[in-house]
Amino acid sequence: MSVKKVVLAYSGGLDTSVIVKWLQDNYGCEVITYTADLGQNEELEPIKKKALKVGAVKAYVEDLREEFLNEYVMGALRFSALYENQYPLATALGRPLITKRLIEIAREENADAIAHGSTGKGNDQVRFDVSAAALAPDIKVLAPVREWELKSRDDEIEYAKKYNIDVPITKAKPYSIDRNIWGLSVEAGPLEDPYFEATEDIYSFTTSPENAPNEPEYVTINFESGKPVALNGKAMNIVELVAAMNTIAGKHGVGRVDVVENRLVGIKSREIYEAPGAFALLAAKKGINELVWDRETLHMVETLSIKYAELVYYGYWFHPLREAMDELSKKLNETATGEVKLKLYKGNAVAVARKSPYSIYNKELATYDPTDTFVHKEGEAFCHIWGLPMKVMGMVKGQNR
Ligand code: ARG
Repeated sequence: MSVKKVVLAYSGGLDTSVIVKWLQDNYGCEVITYTADLGQNEELEPIKKKALKVGAVKAYVEDLREEFLNEYVMGALRFSALYENQYPLATALGRPLITKRLIEIAREENADAIAHGSTGKGNDQVRFDVSAAALAPDIKVLAPVREWELKSRDDEIEYAKKYNIDVPITKAKPYSIDRNIWGLSVEAGPLEDPYFEATEDIYSFTTSPENAPNEPEYVTINFESGKPVALNGKAMNIVELVAAMNTIAGKHGVGRVDVVENRLVGIKSREIYEAPGAFALLAAKKGINELVWDRETLHMVETLSIKYAELVYYGYWFHPLREAMDELSKKLNETATGEVKLKLYKGNAVAVARKSPYSIYNKELATYDPTDTFVHKEGEAFCHIWGLPMKVMGMVKGQNR
C-alpha cells in the first residue's frame, strides 16, 4: 500500500511516539500528528514539542472539550446511556470526534491516510476505523500496532532507543489508561485476573468511599432541555460544570465501576472506570426524568438507551439510527428542565429533591390526605377491565383442572 501523507492521532505516549517513526520507515510517508484535548488533564504544548521532536512534519493540538461535551456526551446524558448498565462510555464517545477531526485535517493537508495507536483486539480500533469509513470511505486507516512485530512494551522501548525517541524513564503503570472529562478507563496489568481486587493505586480520579468525607455534601444542579446549565445556583458553561462536578463528586468517591465487560470483538475484558461527574449528573438527570416523563416515555427511553449505548460502544456513532435517536431524545428532552438537589456521600450520588416547570407529578392526585381528588371508586372498574383477560384465563384453567 502506498501512503504519502498521514494524520496520526497522537497522545504523546510511548506507542504513538514509536508509531511516528515506524510510519515514516515502513511507508516512507510524512506524518502529521493530531492531539485533541478532551479533558485528559495533560498539557498540550509539551506533547506538540515532542511530536515534532520525534519527527512529525507538523503537529496539531486543539481543545475539543466543549464540542465533545455538547455534541457527543450530551447525547448519552439525554438517554442516560450506560453500556451493559455500568459504563458511561467516556472513551467510546471520544473516538468518533477525534476521527472526525483527523479526517478534516487529512482533507486540508491533502493526506491520503489517517492512523491511530489502537490494538487489534480492542473496541477503540473499531470506533476509529468505522467512523473513518463512514466519513471518508476513500481515506486509508493505518493501525501500526495491528501490523508491527513489536510484541511488548520492552520491544517498543528497544525500538525507541534505537531511533533516539525519548521514552519516559519512570516505570510506567502496567495499565492501559484512557482519560477524558467524562471519565477514565483502566484495563490490563493485574486487572486481567478477574479475581484480583483493584488496588487503591489504580484509582486516580476519585477518593475511595472509605476515605471520603464523613459528612454528606449537597449540590443543586439545574437542567435545561436535558442539559446541565448551573451548579449550586451558578450558571456555568458545560466544560466548567462537568469539571466542577468531577471534583466534587470525586471527593465523595462517586463513580467507581469494576466490571467484566463484553467487548465488540467477542472477548471479555476486566475494566475499572471512574466517572464521578458523569455518575453524579446521570443521577441528577434521573431525578428530572422521573418528574417530567410519563410512564410510556420513561419506559421507552429506558429501552432505547440500551440501543443507544450499544451504537456508541460498537463504533456506530455516525450511523443514521444514532442520529435519528438523537433527534428523538432532543424532542423528548424539551421538558427535561428543572432543578435537582443531589446528596453526595461515601460513593453515592442520590437525587433527594427535584422540581420542574414541566412536572407532571400531581399532588392532588397522589395524596392520601383529605385534599385527594382521585376518585377511589373508579379503581374498581379499572381493576375489573384491566384484570379481565386474567379472569378469563383463570376460569379456563379452572375448567381444565
Ligand atoms: N472498554 C472501554 C471501551 O471500550 C475502555 C477502553 C479503554 N481504552 C484504553 N485505551 N485504555 O470503551
